[in-house]
Formats: sequence, structure tokens, C-alpha cells
Amino acid sequence: MIITIDGPAGSGKSTIAKLLAEKLGYVYIDTGAMYRAVALKVKREGINPTDKQAVVKLMEETEISLQGDKVFLDGEDVSHLIRTEEIGKIASQIARYPEVRKVLVKMQRELGKRAKNVVIEGRDTGTVVFPDADIKIFLTASPEERAERRYKQLKEKGIQTTLEDVLKEIKERDYLDETRKDSPLRPAEGSVIIDTTGKTLNQVFDKIMDIVKNYEKK
Ligand code: DC
Repeated sequence: MIITIDGPAGSGKSTIAKLLAEKLGYVYIDTGAMYRAVALKVKREGINPTDKQAVVKLMEETEISLQGDKVFLDGEDVSHLIRTEEIGKIASQIARYPEVRKVLVKMQRELGKRAKNVVIEGRDTGTVVFPDADIKIFLTASPEERAERRYKQLKEKGIQTTLEDVLKEIKERDYLDETRKDSPLRPAEGSVIIDTTGKTLNQVFDKIMDIVKNYEKK
């Protein structure tokens, strides 16, 4: 059983996907964490994310792995270090390169096949990684609401920023993710689109659980 959850930054997909995997006892795959880990290395090596050649070369010398909800970069646990807005932006920039996507998508498919029962989340998990998934969800929300959610999360983590900056970053990231040529962010064919604006986490979660239960009855 494969469940894909895609959507823009701040749509709540990580929270929902993690919770769903936990409730169902499925393996959780956070594809964004993989792009973020590559982005962290790009930053550390002082490479300009717009320098495609350098990024692709770096990718060839990089080892990314996922273990539960942890992500490892060349053997180092970088799970917490990748959660900044700056790394999110770099991740979005390097995710434009087909060479980078090809390597990570291959890994994601292998992980999914090995696990059998999976909740996988990202931008292209229903369109590209697992187009034949059993259930495909696309979560959205207004940019303003997504910015507020992100802002709250960052504040809780003690990261200093302003709501205006977060909104600007979210809009920039939407633009990059939606307009890239390779695997742009869009709802997969056959996906259920859920607009989470004004909805609580529980409401969204219950709706997805209903979809899963109805699928199991079939
Ligand atoms: O979901 P996230 O914010 O952790 O993702 C960070 C960036 O990685 C996102 O802006 C674009 C890229 N990404 C992608 O291109 N494809 C995915 N399946 C997941 C993430």
C-alpha cells in the first residue's frame, strides 16, 4: 500500500504524513529531507546553487540516506540542521536539476518498494515517484495561512524571523517548485485535493483517514 502526499511548503504535509504513517504503522519517507540534505552540502561547500555543473558534480560525491525520520548526509545525522528557511530555498533551487532528481527519485522508489506499506511526502511523489500509488493526496492552503503556520513553527524552534519574510520565502519557493520543467509541483492524476485553509490538523487528518478506510473496504 502506497500513500503519496504532495503539496507546497507549509501545507501541513509533513505533520499529516508523519501522523498517518504512525497511526497506520507504515514507513514514512520524507523526500524533501533528501533535497534539503543535498542543499546543506551545497551550502557547506560554498557552491552557488545556480551553478548546475558544480551541484551535479557534488551530487556524484554525496551519499544521502533515510532512517526512520532521520536523514544522513555522508553518514552524518543532519536531521535538525536542514530545517531552516535558507536550506529550504537552496533545496528548491537544486531540485530544478534533472540530474539531482534522477538520483533521489531512484532511491525513493527503492525505499518504497522495500517497505511495501509507505506514506511518502514531497512535491512529485504522486506524479513521478509513484504514479501508480494506491492513494494520492494533494494538500494546499492559502500562502498567507501557510506562512503563518511556518512562522509559528520557526518561532517555537527559537528561530528569529518575521511573518513578512516567511510569506515572501513561501511565495518564492512556490514559484520555483511550480515552474520548473522537471517534475513541477502539481496535483497528480487521480489525487484527492484538500484545501486545508481554515481547517485544523485533526479535521484534515480525519478526512484522510476516511479516504484510507474507504479504500480498504473496496
Ligand atoms: O518539503 P520541503 O519543504 O522539505 O522541501 C524542500 C524543497 O525540496 C522544496 O521546496 C522543493 C524540493 N523538493 C522537490 O523538489 N521534490 C520533492 N519530492 C520534495 C522536495
